[in-house]
Amino acid sequence: MDATDWDARYAGADLVWSAAPNVWVRELTSRMPSGRALDVAAGEGRNALWLVEQDWTVTATDFSSVAVQRMSDIADQRLGSMREHLTTLVGDATADGEHSAYDLVLLCYLHLPDDEWRAAMRAATTAARPGGHVLVIGHALRNLTEGVGGPQDPSILLDPEGVLASIEGLPVEVELAEIRERAVEGADRPALDTVVLLRRT
Ligand SMILES: C[S@@+](CC[C@H](N)C(=O)[O-])C[C@H]1O[C@@H](n2cnc3c(N)ncnc32)[C@H](O)[C@@H]1O
Repeated sequence: MDATDWDARYAGADLVWSAAPNVWVRELTSRMPSGRALDVAAGEGRNALWLVEQDWTVTATDFSSVAVQRMSDIADQRLGSMREHLTTLVGDATADGEHSAYDLVLLCYLHLPDDEWRAAMRAATTAARPGGHVLVIGHALRNLTEGVGGPQDPSILLDPEGVLASIEGLPVEVELAEIRERAVEGADRPALDTVVLLRRT
C-alpha cells in the first residue's frame, strides 16, 4: 500500500487502530528510563501519545499525511501541557533521517517489501544513539494459519529470523527476538506477534 491508500484508510471518522498502546510497547519501554523516542510509521499515534504520557519526548512520523493530521489533532485534545513533547511529521520510514539522536526507535506493525524493510531498519538503527534501543513489533507469518489479524500477504509478514537477517552488518546487539501471543477481543485464537528488541552498539 502506498501513502494514498493509507490516506484513504485513515479518512473515515473513526479510529482505525485502538487508542491504547500496544501491549509489548507498554511492557518493554516501561523497563527503560524515559528519554527521546522516534515512533516510525506511527499511524494515529497510539504508542507515541502514550510514551509522551510516560515522560518521553517523542517524534512521530508516518507517510500518510491524513494519519499525521489525525495524530496531531488527538494530541492537541489529549496531552495538555505535555503537547510540546510530541512532534508529528510526515516522513517515509525508508529514508535516512537524524543520526544517533534517539534513546528509543519504535517500528510497530510496519510491513514492507524486503528491500524497503531493510532500508527502514538501516534508518532506524542510524537514528538510535549508541546504547539506545530499536524495538520492532510485527505480525508473524504463522498468523495466516494459526493466528489472527495483520496483512494477508506472506511476503511482508515479519518473523524474528527475517528481522535478524535484515540487520546483518548493522551496529546492533539482539536483546530479544521471539514470537508472542497477544489476546484479541472477540477472536477465538491469539494474534502472533514478532517482538525484537535491539540495542545500538
Ligand atoms: C498497521 S499501521 C501501524 C500504525 C502504528 N505504528 C500502530 O501500531 O498503531 C502501519 C502504518 O505504517 C504506515 N506506513 C506504511 N509504509 C510506510 C512508509 N514507507 N513510511 C512511513 N509510514 C509508512 C502507514 O501509513 C500506517 O500508518
